[in-house]
Amino acid sequence: CNYWIEKTRGEILNTLVEGLERLEYRGYDSTGIAIDSSLLIKQIGKVDSLKKEINKINLDLNDIFVSHVGIAHTRWATHGQPKKINCHPQSSDPDNNEFIIVHNGIITNFRDLKTFLIQKGYNKFQSETDSECIAILFKYIYDNNIQNGIKLKFNDLTKLVLLELEGSYGLLCRSIHYHNEIIATRKGSPLLIGVKSNKNLKMDFIDVEFPDDLKDQDDILSDVESYILPDKNQNHNETLSSYSFPNNKETPSTFTHNTQNLINDNLLPIAANEFNLRHSQSRAFLSEDGFPAPIEFFLSSDASSVIKHTKKVLFLEDDDIAHIYDGELHIHRSRREVGASMTRSIQTLEMELAQIMKGPYKHFMQKEIYEQPESTLNTMRGRIDFDSNNVLLGGLTAWLPAIRRARRLIMIACGTSYHSCLATRAIFEELSEIPVSIELASDFLDRKSPVFRDDICVFVSQSGETADTMLALNYCLERGALTVGIVNTVGSSLSRATHCGVHINAGPEIGVASTKAYTSQYIALVMFALSLSDDRVSKQKRRGEIIQGLKLIPGQIKAVLNLEPRIKELCDHQLKNQRSLLLLGRGYQFASALEGALKIKEISYMHSEGVLAGELKHGVLALVDENLPIIAFGTRDSLFPKVVSSIEQVTARKGHPIIICNEGDEVWTKKAEGSDLITLEVPQTVDCLQGLLNIIPLQLMSYWLAVNKGIDVDFPRNLAKSVTVE
Ligand code: G6P
Repeated sequence: CNYWIEKTRGEILNTLVEGLERLEYRGYDSTGIAIDSSLLIKQIGKVDSLKKEINKINLDLNDIFVSHVGIAHTRWATHGQPKKINCHPQSSDPDNNEFIIVHNGIITNFRDLKTFLIQKGYNKFQSETDSECIAILFKYIYDNNIQNGIKLKFNDLTKLVLLELEGSYGLLCRSIHYHNEIIATRKGSPLLIGVKSNKNLKMDFIDVEFPDDLKDQDDILSDVESYILPDKNQNHNETLSSYSFPNNKETPSTFTHNTQNLINDNLLPIAANEFNLRHSQSRAFLSEDGFPAPIEFFLSSDASSVIKHTKKVLFLEDDDIAHIYDGELHIHRSRREVGASMTRSIQTLEMELAQIMKGPYKHFMQKEIYEQPESTLNTMRGRIDFDSNNVLLGGLTAWLPAIRRARRLIMIACGTSYHSCLATRAIFEELSEIPVSIELASDFLDRKSPVFRDDICVFVSQSGETADTMLALNYCLERGALTVGIVNTVGSSLSRATHCGVHINAGPEIGVASTKAYTSQYIALVMFALSLSDDRVSKQKRRGEIIQGLKLIPGQIKAVLNLEPRIKELCDHQLKNQRSLLLLGRGYQFASALEGALKIKEISYMHSEGVLAGELKHGVLALVDENLPIIAFGTRDSLFPKVVSSIEQVTARKGHPIIICNEGDEVWTKKAEGSDLITLEVPQTVDCLQGLLNIIPLQLMSYWLAVNKGIDVDFPRNLAKSVTVE
């Protein structure tokens, strides 16, 4: 949205299309865009197809707009196939697009709503989506009020619409009835607002609503004032400048206070909480001189589409309704509540655009694989003192005593993040001496597993937005457990909702197949276990060994990356045209087998299965013959003899496994002599860290298998990077 800034139609389209391109990794079945008062363009496939479609339409790209609101969407289908009618934006009526929405999430009661709306004569449903009913509901409630002579404000209309919706949403709505206004609201799906202006934005209004029965307004006002003024705001030079009485003299509803910058404006809501006032907050950004500031707002589900324009962002919370009009941003709550935190401070994003660009690499995934020497170092940077063997995780320090007292620790995650929990469970139990269970978020919820107040629940997520993981988090919060987040995306829903946690600092991960997030999650979890055990004398030797091992990991990953030509060769020959692949591992390497298999199926579409080597004889051995490709993790640890014997079971059935082993390991060198056994040698590290190195050849292998098949690695079919639906 732009206000008092001249923009051509071409510029507006470019901004929206570029934003979609940055979001394409999240979902890419179809795209759509709505500009001007009611022009809607939709297309199946990637953003490129949308661009072609836009070019086909005869639009004057040089038309100038001083204020404009446009919306766009890239979709990953949940309800309804990727067809043009199902693309977003969805509209309330095909003729004049009175209400147009884009929606992430799922409206679970959409069938009931549809039936209701059709009964009321609102029967112009065009699509198979759940989202369309939102647009039609807007129109129904709007029309109803107009018939009663009331034109609701856009935010009030939205409040009524949200009362009817069940499910999750990140939702934008615009309408011909609210020219150049936009509504943004969320529940369970991420949404943020970037703010950009070339003027200094200094004023900030916050509305505080008083209970109707409030008798002594003056006393309360002076109490609130004295709460805000003394000493509490030294850093930001805030002063309470005036009260305003916009409605009538009797019911003051607005305080105005000046802030020196946009950032800190949380005092008034705190005061309102303190005095138990019902309040809703709204902000208006104005320039210092009191004239409207030229301003742009960028609303998105992901910071990567906003970063090019501004680093100043505000993350909406569940049940927030942001209403933007006349260059002002107002935030309301869809529900009345007393005592809820109303602070929505503007944050400055750390991310650089260059970090999310491909650079010299052909794919994001390739770039991210190659970033691992640096990303693993960044996870440890400033947190480990390798001289004194100390680990300091600032986000956990205050909580460690409580965590140490826990009766059990539950790690909850999905996909690759789940594998990082599996990879570190043993070392966690060994160092902390707390029983650790690991859970796939969806299964944990399906079982409604009991959670107690003295449980510690650790949630691991790259995006911090995965719906299953978020639902599991809410489930544990409701039961009073202490929650810890291990998250990559700063400002994500998960990192904000957990009590404490660790950012893994791997940098933005765009490739759908997670690579650098895995190795960084792994290290973050090991560091967590190390911090928990730093007060135990009996663990110091082991801790020292692991910490010194961690120091070498970034360099060792670099060495493993040198295997790429050999791995590519294997993909070009031995593994070419194969339909299936087994990965064998045990102990620490079972997680490597599962994660390696996941990488391969995700992007090369080859069936692959991670097998616990000890289970081989209980069924999987029946698959083994001279043709089935098998990869076995044969690196050194206490289980080495058992792994060797499992591999012998395979070779005895004419299998030709590829062995991932330690450099110069005599056992494998001897076995390879005079046989067709293939080895991929990786450096040796401490047993519990070996998985960090062993997974790299599998990441490279999945990459080259996919490239050889001509698959668009960063956009594997049917998958999305961030699964914000249940
Ligand atoms: C999706 C992605 C996976 C990821 C999983 C969990 O399935 O494609 O790569 O591992 O979600 O995501 P999270 O962001 O919670 O780690």
